[in-house]
Amino acid sequence: MPTTLIAYDPQGVCLPEHGLTPADLAAFGPRIAEARDEVLADARLWAAGGQVPAARQPLDAGFTELPERLLTEYRELGPNSEVGRIQAAADRLAAAADRLILLGIGGSYMGARALQEACCQPFHNELPRDQRGGRPRISYAGNNVDNDVIQGLLDLLGQQGRPGREAPAGQGGPPTRPEDRFALVVISKSGGTLETAAAFRLLLEPLRASCDNEPGELARRIVPVTGKSGKLFDLAGALGCPDVFQVPDGVGGRFSVLSAVGLLPAAVLGLDIVKLLQGAAAMNDHFRSAEPGANCVLDYTSICHLMEVRQGTDVRVLSTWGNRLESVGLWYDQLLAESLGKQERGALPLTVVNTRDLHSRGQQHQEGKRDKLITNLIVDTPSRQPLAIGRSTLNQDGLNALAAKTLPDILEAACRGTNQAYRDENRPTTNIHLPALNEHTLGQLFQMFMLATVVEGRLLGINPYGQPGVEAYKKNMNAILRGEGT
Ligand code: PA5
Repeated sequence: MPTTLIAYDPQGVCLPEHGLTPADLAAFGPRIAEARDEVLADARLWAAGGQVPAARQPLDAGFTELPERLLTEYRELGPNSEVGRIQAAADRLAAAADRLILLGIGGSYMGARALQEACCQPFHNELPRDQRGGRPRISYAGNNVDNDVIQGLLDLLGQQGRPGREAPAGQGGPPTRPEDRFALVVISKSGGTLETAAAFRLLLEPLRASCDNEPGELARRIVPVTGKSGKLFDLAGALGCPDVFQVPDGVGGRFSVLSAVGLLPAAVLGLDIVKLLQGAAAMNDHFRSAEPGANCVLDYTSICHLMEVRQGTDVRVLSTWGNRLESVGLWYDQLLAESLGKQERGALPLTVVNTRDLHSRGQQHQEGKRDKLITNLIVDTPSRQPLAIGRSTLNQDGLNALAAKTLPDILEAACRGTNQAYRDENRPTTNIHLPALNEHTLGQLFQMFMLATVVEGRLLGINPYGQPGVEAYKKNMNAILRGEGT
């Protein structure tokens, strides 16, 4: 299958007035290539299980070659591979339930949401089951401790999972139609994250009730994804869950979207997870072999880095065009912030959705502080037939003049017009182009951003793995809850 790669176009930034020219970029080539070599050496060291020098710990470089490893195993072992097992568990869940509640937070949740919003019908959850291809709705919980949201979810599940709803009077028993059943996917690498664990406990009893207290049925409706030990792992054992997936060793939460963490929910939704992995593997090939100047990972990283150190643009605006990439942007916000926001350094990521946010943040991006580098994330071809404005006998809105213009025409004009407006004010912009939005291009994009983040970490001398700063709030929260707080 010929592979169309996503492309990076730095035209709107490589200009003398931004203190950056194509010659500067070329001169930086050897330095960025060196950072790539470091990242590839990390991946080899990790794969070989070699001794990691103290200065490089933690080294969660397992994400780098994960797509190739999973694809090779799938080719060799088919249904017995990790991918085969994920597909089988996903199909079983899809047949068993009409609503999946995905419990997880941070890297254990954001990738799944990004996949759903980018690749599913935008109103997936509202569609009747047959128009969802028989796949469940997905709701998200365990990513906060919002009392009223969980109460709302419990209300919803009370309607959906009422025991014996379908059974003839007096016979009881769990509901037999998938439309009346829900299931849980619980994701936590550590297995001890309080937000996720609390939501799991609160949902376990309603699920048990909806399974008519039948332990086998309860176990089949819960699929944990966790580390190879820990509290969730133990709970899964006690419940007797037939399918438990592992977050691989050496793959940190925010780098785990292409493991069972993202693949299982994607497969439940009916997405093609092999294409997702193939997209990521294609990006790996490109990253390893293309020279700086023609390598989207290296060029993107060079521009972001050079603009930050030379021009002080330490706000990275990811400007997504259309609604479906918002959660991809939020996934990237987490990746960048948690990986490089260390040692009092690291750029500030900010996702915007255009044209929506042109009406909220556009003013500031056009005329505010000169601290922003804007990267447009553009999908070149919509998945569906372009809709034209059309003629109307009621032309009070004046739109007959644009009757032949389609919504993609308008979006493109808005994007070009915005870039031009920024250009006129010497506001730096670059473009990432996705030829289309599907599993293959999304796999490429995830891998591109993960690689770019670790390359930038190596450039800055910041370890992109681990998130020691997140531990402080957890420690304080637990101390307060257990009465040890001040
Ligand atoms: O990137 C990370 O490692 C974090 O964002 C984690 O994914 C998040 O804290 C959730 O952790 P866990 O999967 O252990 O519940």
